[in-house]
Amino acid sequence: MSSQLEKVKELIELRAEARLGGGEKAIEKQHERGKYTARERIAQLLDEGSFEELDMFVRHRCTNFGQEKKSYLGDGVVTGYGTIEGRLVYVFAQDFTVFGGSLSETMALKICKVMDMAMKMGAPVIGLNDSGGARIQEGINALAGYAEIFQRNIMASGVIPQISAILGPCAGGAVYSPALTDFTIMAKGISYMFLTGPKVVKTVTGEDVSQDALGGAEVHSSKSGVCHFAADDGEHALKIIRKLFSYIPQNNLEEAPLKECNDPIDRLEDSLNDIIPDSPTRPYDMYEVIGAIVDNGEFLEVQRDYAKNIIVGFARFNGQSVGIVANQPKYLAGVLDSNASRKGARFVRFCDAFNIPLVTLVDVPGFLPGTGQEYNGVILHGAKLLYAFGEATVPKVTVTLRKSYGGSHIVMSCKQLRGDMNYAWPTAEIAVMGGAGAVEVLYAKEAKASDNPAQVLADREAEYNKLFCNPYNAAKYGYIDDVIEPRNTRFRVIRALQQLATKKVMNPAKKHGNIPL
Ligand code: HXC
Repeated sequence: MSSQLEKVKELIELRAEARLGGGEKAIEKQHERGKYTARERIAQLLDEGSFEELDMFVRHRCTNFGQEKKSYLGDGVVTGYGTIEGRLVYVFAQDFTVFGGSLSETMALKICKVMDMAMKMGAPVIGLNDSGGARIQEGINALAGYAEIFQRNIMASGVIPQISAILGPCAGGAVYSPALTDFTIMAKGISYMFLTGPKVVKTVTGEDVSQDALGGAEVHSSKSGVCHFAADDGEHALKIIRKLFSYIPQNNLEEAPLKECNDPIDRLEDSLNDIIPDSPTRPYDMYEVIGAIVDNGEFLEVQRDYAKNIIVGFARFNGQSVGIVANQPKYLAGVLDSNASRKGARFVRFCDAFNIPLVTLVDVPGFLPGTGQEYNGVILHGAKLLYAFGEATVPKVTVTLRKSYGGSHIVMSCKQLRGDMNYAWPTAEIAVMGGAGAVEVLYAKEAKASDNPAQVLADREAEYNKLFCNPYNAAKYGYIDDVIEPRNTRFRVIRALQQLATKKVMNPAKKHGNIPL
């Protein structure tokens, strides 16, 4: 064999060794845990055959605790680039078969390299996390590596989309990289995230709690809001990422891809003309409205199980990607509270950062009252949503279906927050407050002095409702651009978005605003 052929053979052997990560036994163990390996995951995530791996020959440089005798090609993370639906993305996937995917100095360098390339090329970066945290043997160098990654997450925020899948452990300070990214996807049964694990919790607080109950996918998607999508398993998590990608652009200077639309833009949806119940206290399902107006009824919901009183997610109108923000009258009457405000605000800011128009569907009775909310800082949280809508410069189309009262009317993308097209259904009630509450304030004394207080209040309420609980009062002042037939909502929203395609609004130059965090 010529020496060149020998060198080629060596390369092929080294590549084969690198592809085995921590070795066959470790791979077997990974499968026994119900988890795929880093390379299997990348293959599931990217278009077939599109992955180009980088830094396959990197090894750690640690000599503490005899580490020099134990090293693996690639060192615990698989990095590179490929495509999703033909569009460039950068990926890093932690390899649990090598030192439990724990983060070494060299692993951090590999991850930072793809993050820097993603920024240079203006392409999204996806992190597949499955790691025991900082590589203990490397001490402060591992911590420095985390900090380098976090700094890049921060600089990339709002410039390129950043997505994190949690497909195994993610504990301690390691949780902060996913938390800094735009979307976190967790897989039920195999993934958990917490700052301090069950053992430390037990020592410090005496509380007995399992890994899953402390930081599993269900907990983080329903209670904390840390997780945006809870997948059934690892493979499903990667499918969700592919779907999510179809709605978002490559970077903050581009638009989301336009899909061909085979759903007629002027499709009338008669059911919407009769969806609002006669009784103002009876709910209806906002999902039905969303499903009826968007292209082919397709809606990718974000944070489905968290703060269900507000619905956020991606859909398309005439093939154009939009962010939908909608109150859900079926849950807590669609009231705004701290969690709903935070959820809405974060989503609105993502859409605005990445040029995705906002379509807001309003049916909101107000903010949830009480000490629980006030002590929790609902003032600040509500202000986040207000701030997010107010600073957003993307096209903003608002449709008020029923209630839109008081502060919550303003917060939900009203005209004065630079709503571009504000429509209302004839069933809209745009007022300072609902009739019953208003007459209590205005006519309690008059009612008390009369022979029939209930009748006085009822009469006054009817009077108030006639005067204020309709869309025409707001339309009279131009705060509502048009009152539309509900069944025609799809067409009117599409026409509005078409008109707004060339919208250009710049906020004043500043270092950055001071959103009430
Ligand atoms: C070095 C590690 C490691 C780590 C796991 N391994 N975590 N090696 N540093 N942090 C190694 C194990 O020694 C083992 O090696 C292999 O990875 C697989 O781990 P197992 O324990 O066999 O797997 P499993 O039973 O599934 O348990 C996984 C685990 C557990 C829950 C993640 O390994 C664990 O508790 N690890 C330590 C977690 C931790 O405390 N990390 C540091 C947190 S501090 P062998 O050779 O036996 O196969 C931190 C600070 C970050 O991360 C701060 C950032 C700002």
